Amino acid sequence: MNSFKLFLLMGSLLMSGFHSQAQELDLKHMMESSFQTKGIASVDRLTQDENQMACSTLVKGKPQINAKQQAKIEKTNLSLVAYPQDGVYLGNWREGEKIAQSGKGATWSDKADDVNGGGCYNCHQLDKKEISYGTIGPTLYNYGKIRGQDEAVLKYTWAKLYNSKAYNACSVMPRFGHFKLLTENQLRDLMALLLDPQSPVNQ
Ligand code: HEC
Repeated sequence: MNSFKLFLLMGSLLMSGFHSQAQELDLKHMMESSFQTKGIASVDRLTQDENQMACSTLVKGKPQINAKQQAKIEKTNLSLVAYPQDGVYLGNWREGEKIAQSGKGATWSDKADDVNGGGCYNCHQLDKKEISYGTIGPTLYNYGKIRGQDEAVLKYTWAKLYNSKAYNACSVMPRFGHFKLLTENQLRDLMALLLDPQSPVNQ
């Protein structure tokens, strides 16, 4: 099972909402006994960080965190975002489209330095020509056309891709830069896919 599928499985189990702490422990036990370390896919992927834990107690599918906790998580995650040092935010949208399409990487049969995909279409609509996409996230069609490319848009979009919890404490979008799933150059290419006026996203 690749990490993305595991992520979705955990997500759907968690989304269904728990009724008791006992059920939560049952799930934890089930996960721990069902998965084993193989290659780079180690079982420590099951260990949640503080932020993930805070968002995992659900009632009717909604995380039980208050506004103060939410603000704290977002502030911490925003402070962990590394912006491009040379100030260049936009790469090549053609490469960005390939990364958005690819769900490769991070499985037990991959190597630690293999290039990962972003799997963006799993959750978002982007290029209108691609009719196979998920709807967990909002449509990103015309993202750049609607928002433009000023400094605030560049920084917000970069930070969202880098660490989605910077703007939504309990975001289910992978934290691509934070967990080193994508490189700085891949993030630039995705930024171009979203923001370049030539990109099919903005046609
Ligand atoms: C598991 C599903 C999932 C995946 C995979 C995913 N996203 Fe998201 N994304 C979301 C969700 C849900 C939101 C909106 C809620 C939130 O803030 O997290 C979102 C929000 C965004 C936003 C902000 C939209 C806005 O209107 O401000 C951008 C930009 C974005 N995603 C880009 C991407 C890109 C690019 C990729 C691939 C590298 C990607 N996402 C992969 C689920 C996902």
